[in-house]
Amino acid sequence: MPDTADTAGTAQTAGTADTVGTADRAGTATGGPLLQARGLTKTFRVPRSASGSTRLHALDGVDLTVRRGETLGLVGESGCGKSTLARVLLMLERPDAGTLRYDGVDPFALRGRSLLAWRRRVQMVFQDPFASLNPRMSAGELIAEPWRSHPDLVPRAERERRVHELLEKVGLRAADARRHPQEFSGGQRQRIGIARALALDPEVIVCDEPVSALDLSVQAQVLNVLTELQAELGVAYVFISHDLPVVRHMADRVAVMYLGRVVESGPAEEVFTAPRHPYTASLLSAAPRPPTAQDDGPSRRIVLFGEVPSPTDPPSGCRFRTRCWKAEQVCATAVPADEPAPDGPQHLAACHLPIQPSDRGGSRAAAHE
Ligand SMILES: Nc1ncnc2c1ncn2[C@@H]1O[C@H](COP(=O)(O)OP(=O)(O)OP(=O)(O)O)[C@@H](O)[C@H]1O
Ligand code: SF4
Ligand SMILES: [Mg+2]
Repeated sequence: MPDTADTAGTAQTAGTADTVGTADRAGTATGGPLLQARGLTKTFRVPRSASGSTRLHALDGVDLTVRRGETLGLVGESGCGKSTLARVLLMLERPDAGTLRYDGVDPFALRGRSLLAWRRRVQMVFQDPFASLNPRMSAGELIAEPWRSHPDLVPRAERERRVHELLEKVGLRAADARRHPQEFSGGQRQRIGIARALALDPEVIVCDEPVSALDLSVQAQVLNVLTELQAELGVAYVFISHDLPVVRHMADRVAVMYLGRVVESGPAEEVFTAPRHPYTASLLSAAPRPPTAQDDGPSRRIVLFGEVPSPTDPPSGCRFRTRCWKAEQVCATAVPADEPAPDGPQHLAACHLPIQPSDRGGSRAAAHE
C-alpha cells in the first residue's frame, strides 16, 4: 500500500521571537518552560588500552530549555551528544552532574506512581521504524502496548476505539490495526511509531532523527503529520536531526551542539540567518539552502580543518578552538560563557569572539572558504 497522501500542505516556519505564549509557527502556540536542563554532564567509562580505561565526556555542562508546545531543534555532528542528551531527557540515562526539572520537579527524585506518571509525559519516536516495532505484534497491539504500564489512562472498553482514533490521527486507517509492521511501508511504520508515542498523551516527544531513514518524499509526509499533531495537541518536540533544512522547517528554536556542549541556541530564524558561533556558521555554510532564502547567513562554504577531537580528551577552553579560524589565546585558556546577541536576548552563543554582522559574507578568513 502506498504511503498515505499528504493533504496537509506545508506549515512554514515564520521568523518569530522566542516569547512566551506566542504563536510561533502556523497554528502552534508555544508556552512557558516545561523541561529545563542545567549543567548536564554525562561521562562513560571506555577502554583506553588492553589494561586501562578512561572517561568519555558525552555531555559536559549542557543547558537546555524545552517550552510547552514548541519544537526545539537539536543539531550537531555525529558523536556530539545529541542522543545521549535525549536519553537523559527521557531518564534512560542518569547524568553524572547537573539538574533536570520537569514543570519544576526533579524527575530523577521520583519513585513509584509519581515516576510512572512522569514517564508518560515524555515519549520518544525512534530513528529506525523497521527496528523499533516488534514484528510479531499488530499495529493495534503496538499502539495499545504502552497502556499495559498505564492501565488507568484508557478504560479497557474504550481501547479499540482509541487505537482507531490514533491510527486516523497519523493518517492511517482504523482497519490497519490488524496488520503487522512488515505489511507497511517505512513512512507508515513511522506513523505507527508516532501513534504509539501519542498513546500516552505526552507533553513532550523526543524525535531522534525521525525521518532520516525514510525516502525524501515520505519524509515530507511524516514531518507534516508531526506538524499537524502539534497544532492539534500542543505537544512539544525535541527534534534531533543532522538535516539542517529540515530543522529550519520544523523548529521554533534551535540548539547547536559541539563535542558535548550547546554552543549556540535561540529562535531558529535568528540562528539560521545570523549565526554567532563559528561552528554554527560552518554547519550552515555546508547545508543546502532554499533558493528563495533572503538572509545574511553564510554565503560561501566554510571548510573546517582537522577532525572533531576525541571526547576522551577534549581541548581546554573552547572545545571548538582546534578547528576555529577565529581562535586566539583566550580560547585555549577560558571556557566561553553563553552571551546574548546584541539584538536578540534569547539568542545565545558561547564564544569569546562571536561573529559580527560585518564578518558575514566576504570577511571570513579566506583559508576556510
Ligand atoms: N553507552 C555508551 N558507552 C560509551 N560511549 C558512549 C555511550 N553512548 C554514547 N557514547 C559516546 O558518547 C558520544 C556521544 O554519543 P551520541 O550517541 O550521544 O552522539 P550523537 O550526537 O547522537 O551522534 P549521531 O549523530 O551519530 O547519532 C560518542 O562519542 C559516543 O561514542
Ligand atoms: S571561543 Fe574562540 S575558538 Fe571558540 S568558537 Fe569562539 S573564537 Fe572560535
Ligand atoms: Mg544519535
